[in-house]
Order: sequence, then C-alpha cells, then structure tokens
Amino acid sequence: MKSTARFVFDIWYFAGLSPDIRKGKLLRREIAGEAICLGRKEDGTLFAMRDICPHRAAPFSAGCIKGGTVECPYHGWRFGIDDGACKEIPALTSDQNMETEKIKVRTFPVREEGQLIWVYIASDKRFAGEPPIDPPSFPFAARKATMDDALTLNCHVDHAVIGLMDPAHGPYVHRQWWWRSEKSMHEKAKAFEPRERGFAMAAHSPSSNSFAYKLLGGKPVTEITFQLPGIRTEEIKVGKKTLLSFTAVTPIDESRTHIRQIFFTDMRLIKLLSPFLKPFAQTFLRQDADMVDLQQMGLKYDPTLLLIEDSDTQTKWYHAIKREWAKSRKEGRAFKNPVNAKVLKWRS
Ligand code: FES
Ligand SMILES: [Fe+2]
Repeated sequence: MKSTARFVFDIWYFAGLSPDIRKGKLLRREIAGEAICLGRKEDGTLFAMRDICPHRAAPFSAGCIKGGTVECPYHGWRFGIDDGACKEIPALTSDQNMETEKIKVRTFPVREEGQLIWVYIASDKRFAGEPPIDPPSFPFAARKATMDDALTLNCHVDHAVIGLMDPAHGPYVHRQWWWRSEKSMHEKAKAFEPRERGFAMAAHSPSSNSFAYKLLGGKPVTEITFQLPGIRTEEIKVGKKTLLSFTAVTPIDESRTHIRQIFFTDMRLIKLLSPFLKPFAQTFLRQDADMVDLQQMGLKYDPTLLLIEDSDTQTKWYHAIKREWAKSRKEGRAFKNPVNAKVLKWRS
C-alpha cells in the first residue's frame, strides 16, 4: 500500500473554531502545504490569504490589520483583505509611480458554519471566486464546544486518517481498565453505507464492553461518519440528547498532521463532567500519537504494507475515495462514490 496523492485538493479543510479567530487578531494555519493567514473583517466575516509576503516572505500573521488591509510586519507593505492586491508600499517616494496593485497575494475562500471554520484549497493556485462545492454541514456544531483537544502527529495525513478509522488497534493501543482489553475482544459485524464524499457506519448500539458509554445512561445509538479530506464524526444519541464528537485530521505538511477533536453536546451530565472526562479523551489521542511515532521507525524504510479484509476495508475505501476525488476534479465531473453498502466483520 502506497499513499495515493500527496494531499486532497479542491476541497474545504477544517481551519478552526470560531473563538480561535478574534477580531483584530491574525492567525496562522498551515494546511496541506500552504501557509494561511486568517482574520476577521470589520463586519466580523472572515478572510484568508497566503501567509507569505511577496516582498521578502515575512508572515502577515505577525503583522496587523489596518482598515481593510493586512500590514506586513517587515516593511509595512499593505495588502487588501478582499483581493490580496498590494495597496501601499511605504518605502516609495511621491515621484516613484509603481503599480503596486499588480503585486498580488493568493486569497482563499473561507466560511464559518456554526462554530466551524472552513478554508477551500484549490489545486489551481490562481483559483478565485466561489468554490463549486459547499463545506460539510454539521448543524449540531453551532453551539459552544464542550471539549476541545488538539495534537500534532509526526506522520503523513494518510497514516493519521487510517489510524483513526482502524478498528483493530483499539484493544492494543487503547488498552485500559475503563475502556476495553484484549480479553473483551469479540467478533463484530457493522453495516456501512456510502455517504457524501465518504461513508458511514450506520446508526447502531455501541458494544456493551465499553464502560464509558454506560456513563451516558439510557440506550445510546451511535453513528460514525467519515468524509474527505479527513473529517470523522461520531454522533451519540440518548433519547433526545446528542453528543457530537467531531474530529478533523488535517495535513500540515508531508510529515506532520494536525488533529483536532471537539465535542458538542446538550447532555447536561457530559457538560458537567467534561473537566473530568477531558483527560480520558486526551489519553486516547496521545496513545495514537505514541503509536504513530513507533510506526515511523518502520515507515522510514518505506516498506510495502498489507491491507486485510475486513478490518482494513475502510482504509481501502479511503484510498479509493481519494483517487476518485482527484480524478473527478481533473475531469471536471461529479464525484462517483466508489463505496458500496457492505457489512464489515472483524474482531476487536
Ligand atoms: S517582507 Fe513584507 S513588506 Fe517586506
Ligand atoms: Fe486510536
């Protein structure tokens, strides 16, 4: 198994939560090999531009916002936040007529849906205008986040995504008394179906061997979805109440991947317990990060890897979806989901 393309392009990437970007402040994000400077306009809407000054590469994010422009911290050149065109070069004297507007910085489409911020990264660096697709919609993520955790994994995004959807590592990597153990392993059969740019493990009652679910009370029903470029959600419903666990796996560059895990809920008990639950959620992420570091010891030799049925089927789907996404973009046609509804079986 070799990874497909470097990164997924012509798609919306998760760039943060609303409170990450405060008015008057600039925020730097590195996404899929691009350095991006995010900020808010006067009216509170967002803008995003390449975080590299065309003059001498200083990051705009270390500068400031000045009346509809971003000012570079190095020599004060100012660029329009809407069009990325250079509006002013302070070093020019009054008789030096330079057409500064010809100097342009790449801008990126950016949207804020509920609390989630999305940046569209096109494969064509000159892309301007409205993206042909909308960012994914998670209406439940309009409320304030209950828990929020982030981590950088030292691996290419493919390994991070695969690690996240891999059902067989749980009893080994996440072995702990309050979750599951090797002894509690049993055969599972879960129904999967294609979904928008991805697939879902359709709503089901989670395994009875997970003690943590019992904390929720009642009979929980869980649905897990995955979609490109690396968005995983787990929605747990108990009666009318919901817990949405939103995970975004975002490539920083070839060898680093950012993971953000955010919980949204209207379950009072979870909100109340969230300060105590956070360390448990953190434990999970850190266990995955430690395994990624171990895995790098082998990956640096670029070995051929194996995929088995059915526990690695989701990994195969991920690669197939990624390939079809790139192909459909290139050919300018609709994406045809390569996933067919199927029951997958494994022991975990
Ligand atoms: S590096 Fe930005 S103004 Fe010179
Ligand atoms: Fe894991």
